Amino acid sequence: MADHSVEITEGCRLPVLRKNQVNEDEWPLAEILSVKDIQGKKLYYVHYIDFNKRLDEWVTPDRLDIKKLQFPKKEAKTPMKDGLPGSRPSSPERDVKRKAESVSLATQVTAATPVPSLPSSAEASQASVYPAMRDSSFSIKSRDEHEPLTSLTTNGTTSIQRHLIPPQPGRKRKSCGGTDEMVKMFQNNSPRCSTIYLLPGEDSQDSSDGIPSAPRMTGSLVSDRSHDDIVTRMKNIDCIELGRHRLKPWYFSPYPQELTSLLILYLCEFCLKYLKSLKCLQRHLTKCNLRHPPGNEIYRKGTISFFEIDGRKNKAYSQNLCLLAKCFLDHKTLYYDTDPFLFYVMTEYDSKGFHIVGYFSKEKESTEDYNVACILTLPPYQRRGYGKLLIEFSYELSKVEGKTGTPEKPLSDLGLLSYRSYWSQTILEILMDLKSENGERPQITINEISEITSVKKEDVISTLQYLNLINYYKGQYILTLSEDIVEGHERAMQKRHLRIDPKCLHFTPKDWSKRGKW
Ligand code: ACO
Ligand code: ZN
Repeated sequence: MADHSVEITEGCRLPVLRKNQVNEDEWPLAEILSVKDIQGKKLYYVHYIDFNKRLDEWVTPDRLDIKKLQFPKKEAKTPMKDGLPGSRPSSPERDVKRKAESVSLATQVTAATPVPSLPSSAEASQASVYPAMRDSSFSIKSRDEHEPLTSLTTNGTTSIQRHLIPPQPGRKRKSCGGTDEMVKMFQNNSPRCSTIYLLPGEDSQDSSDGIPSAPRMTGSLVSDRSHDDIVTRMKNIDCIELGRHRLKPWYFSPYPQELTSLLILYLCEFCLKYLKSLKCLQRHLTKCNLRHPPGNEIYRKGTISFFEIDGRKNKAYSQNLCLLAKCFLDHKTLYYDTDPFLFYVMTEYDSKGFHIVGYFSKEKESTEDYNVACILTLPPYQRRGYGKLLIEFSYELSKVEGKTGTPEKPLSDLGLLSYRSYWSQTILEILMDLKSENGERPQITINEISEITSVKKEDVISTLQYLNLINYYKGQYILTLSEDIVEGHERAMQKRHLRIDPKCLHFTPKDWSKRGKW
């Protein structure tokens, strides 16, 4: 389809043929990010404009609809810091000076764009926090009249503006406890449908609501748009062999440049060291004695184990884990400094050893109550419940610590889906287990839900809103659990086979603040 009389250059846009999820042809608009010539044959690296970057790929000219070619408009073109064109503007709120050496591992990434079947991160985050904007039947009184939960507003504009203001650095941490919102619950006429009253409670100034706020400059994988250049926008590793799996990376990862031309990059599945050939891997395996991740095994049930790895004590492993993780995490930046983090690696055991399934990282000390920095299920294990198992584990750790926690923002599209699903199931499990006493309607407060689950209060509230359970009735906030919700929840819980058993967790939290520099 490509007309060779026209030169298709970086920055051009045109429809490109791809298969959709049901294997049908479609022609979404794409931007050319790079062009290469292999033995006289051109290949084009394309980014489908309305799709997540993980679908970016090299395509042959016959997949380009040249008749609809749009040349880059000068004024619309977004020059990157290195002068290369791109479709995304650099961050207006942050223009961090680029350090030449940081390109090697600290890599920029941008907000995720959606896969067609999924809501985009932006849409999804809004939906989770602002259901009132979509659902006019959602009735919430203004603050003056009834002192409602602060994250609930009748006015979408006001609430959006509030979220554009970054959190104040000195913002006080909210603790659970004290007076809080009362939630009353009673059984309706229908035994399958119950209603919960939300009474106004203590003021809550915290407006995080699970929405990404300002990018942070700390964290294992941190938001930072300063490296949004053409190199880091393109996946650079074609294929990774890890034990019995071949993984196709979704995004750029700062492995050494000389390894990016390999057809396959080999990783030792136990120490995660990268090697350039099968021969090198085999040689390595004769010397590498590890059959499980380093660190302490702090959980085992059946074939599932969790290992706790200190980013300072096991630096090489932690860095190799970050490099591997970056292949599937786009929206954050990766740094070499793993010292401030703990890594919780989940494995599945067989006669050959403990095979990595996924992991999450966690700051040793978090001023923002983050209990997860980055979380990943390796692609061969995805969509089988392991992501929620990792999330459940992270909250079990918070329970032992006696704290509430929340994942570091921004969340990716898949991260948001997984968290929302976990929060919904966790909260509904509690609400549906409530028993009435002395014929009275059962009662629970938002703070109590938060304390029982270790889910930060703001995430409890945003989940109740997302589920569209909150209504205002006769001067009170009420939650109505409809039959649909109850049945949907029961169906989902029947499918949720993988669960953490707290009895199998052997974990003693450390007070990192007392340890000087970790
Ligand atoms: N499309 C639609 N729904 C999905 C998809 C998908 N591709 N992937 C997961 N989900 C939904 C599942 O349906 C499930 O919800 P349900 O049980 O209500 O149906 C929920 O998300 C969780 O599914 P799991 O199987 O438990 O999760 P999984 O093992 O696939 O792991 C994870 C989820 C960790 C987000 C994984 O997709 C991943 O590693 N993605 C790449 C890295 C990433 O984006 N991490 C999160 C970044 S945010 C942060 O780090 C704090
Ligand atoms: Zn090894």
